Amino acid sequence: FREAWTLASQPAVETHRGVPRPAPAPAAGGFTNAPDTDPSVAANRAWAAAIRARAATSALGVDTLQDARIDDASALSAVIGAAKSAATAWAQIGAQTRAAVLEAVAVELEARRGDLVEVMMSEAGKTVDQADPEVSEAIDFARYYAARAVELEQWEGARPVPRRVSVVTPPWNFPVAIPTGSTLAALATGSAAILKPAEQSPRCGAVIAEILWAAGVPKDALQLIDIDPEALGEQLVGDPRVDQVILTGGYETARRFLQIRPDLKLFAETSGKNAIVVTPSADLDLAVKDIVASAYGHAGQKCSAASLVIAVGTVATSHRFLTQLEDAVRSLTAGPADEPRTQMGPLIEPAAGKLRRALTALEPGERWIVEPTPLDETGRAWTPALKAGTRPGSFFHMTECFGPVLSVLAVATLDDAIHLQNAVDYGLTAGIHSLDPAEVSHWLDRVEAGNAYVNRGITGAIVQRQPFGGWKRSVVGPTFKAGGPHYLSALVDWERTEIED
Ligand code: SER
Repeated sequence: FREAWTLASQPAVETHRGVPRPAPAPAAGGFTNAPDTDPSVAANRAWAAAIRARAATSALGVDTLQDARIDDASALSAVIGAAKSAATAWAQIGAQTRAAVLEAVAVELEARRGDLVEVMMSEAGKTVDQADPEVSEAIDFARYYAARAVELEQWEGARPVPRRVSVVTPPWNFPVAIPTGSTLAALATGSAAILKPAEQSPRCGAVIAEILWAAGVPKDALQLIDIDPEALGEQLVGDPRVDQVILTGGYETARRFLQIRPDLKLFAETSGKNAIVVTPSADLDLAVKDIVASAYGHAGQKCSAASLVIAVGTVATSHRFLTQLEDAVRSLTAGPADEPRTQMGPLIEPAAGKLRRALTALEPGERWIVEPTPLDETGRAWTPALKAGTRPGSFFHMTECFGPVLSVLAVATLDDAIHLQNAVDYGLTAGIHSLDPAEVSHWLDRVEAGNAYVNRGITGAIVQRQPFGGWKRSVVGPTFKAGGPHYLSALVDWERTEIED
């Protein structure tokens, strides 16, 4: 969608990057998504080059993070207490005022787009083209939740009561969009937020906190903490003054949180094992492009990523499809995130466990179409992997491996494909490439995934247009989707009021 409307012929507007770009067409409901940086504009390429030059020595967020360091239980307890006290005033200022602060956050996020891209590249190994849309998504969350917060107070017959303290524990793989979205959702409802960034991307969290404070979020209403989760995580989640936790992470982490605190209000978006089905009626060129983007974007380190292609009927034996897919994978350039030609950056950590197994070993029936190779001794830099012949029920069919490995499975019919797609424990994203409306509606009626995409890649949900959330083991807690109309309503308690005639 973004690409479509970014290219639309609209009046030019000035941006902070100093170059004209098309104004996006308004979407349904009057909400307009923030556009990504257009790389076809020379000035934007220079902007990106300057970021790449800074990323290796980036120190953004360091000072803020130092101030947020907490090493003992009493200091953590004091932070929770301060958040709880701050919640009263933050709730009392009302939704209109909070919405204005969120609008100011959107402006500040845009102003610091370059810093956010830099810190994502520096900490999480994101390339510019992977990091830039995250900033757009964070801006969308700010503006979308601002509007939803105001609506929330206009419900008839019920009044939203903010929960006082919300803890936000986001992942490292979307180190800007997800922490910003989750924190702003809580803040929008009138809750105070305690943001604990992922250990791998704490400076991203620090820059986000700087932005929110600069835009007018009171310092106590948003607390940034840098803690060792092994030492203090249990105390944080277990503290009865914490009313709710918004977690994006592994299914096992969500289970652990509930063991620590069975009564916890937990909103967890967890793991995924996601497949794209390709039928003989598909536009195969488009399918290959979308599969490659979904499988290898950010080196496959997305809960939404594709790691299975289920080829139906003649697609499985189609020389054209398999050759194109192989060529596309071979043509990807893996390397350091701050090199302009890099399309696939490094892994966040050396490949270990399930991912190492998927990258280095074949299971019975499997063969390499493109065998991966390590690019250096670090264990973090790999070329992309493509295999075929994965058997139903096998390790790779069922297991989220979180890296640049894709396998092609062959089946006879669309129903066989749906069966394999639904056989996994998770139900986060799923895709189909088919130009046959009957096939598409048959699939849509049966696929068990929170986000089902047709003739599109399966990563990169878009606020308001494609709210994001899972099904089955991809979600723990209520299934309200982030970036959707009902998300905020799940983060408050509801008090009945009289309905006026
Ligand atoms: N929202 C992300 C995506 O759609 C995943 O967290 O890819």
